[in-house]
Amino acid sequence: MHSPVCPFQDTPKQTERHSMSLSDAARTVRANAYAPYSNFKVGAAIRAASGEVFSGCNVENVAYPEGTCAEAGAIAAMVAAGQTELTEVYVIADSPAPVPPCGGCRQKLMEFGQADTRVTLATTAGTEISTTLAELLPGAFASAHMDNA
Ligand code: THU
Repeated sequence: MHSPVCPFQDTPKQTERHSMSLSDAARTVRANAYAPYSNFKVGAAIRAASGEVFSGCNVENVAYPEGTCAEAGAIAAMVAAGQTELTEVYVIADSPAPVPPCGGCRQKLMEFGQADTRVTLATTAGTEISTTLAELLPGAFASAHMDNA
């Protein structure tokens, strides 16, 4: 049980995962981000093809390159639950403008989504930008590029 002053948020129970909005899930998990080095907390939520919502936050490390992004955490949660298709993405941070996923996360999201998968980028203040995976990662490297291998 968390006391009322605890800054951390409970992650959704299995039964709540279908009904949650991506926006609520991303905002909630962002509170648990571990970002003592950048001080930049990010929350990400993805909806799997099943309708279930999975969320993740950034987890930094004193060895800086070992840190992981919020999107990677959400993807890992989905795959750990046995699901490998995502239909929608939401990313939120306290930034002056909606935060775009880093290059590596664009490729990671594309692995499990489609070109037209909707991605919403948001600020904690309420600004949202709606885009797609193809807009974020034009000319994505795909398995078809290895057809001669
Ligand atoms: N970060 C994310 O988690 N997702 C993004 O889309 C952009 C950046 C994190 C990584 C690092 O912990 C912090 O933000 C600053 O780069």
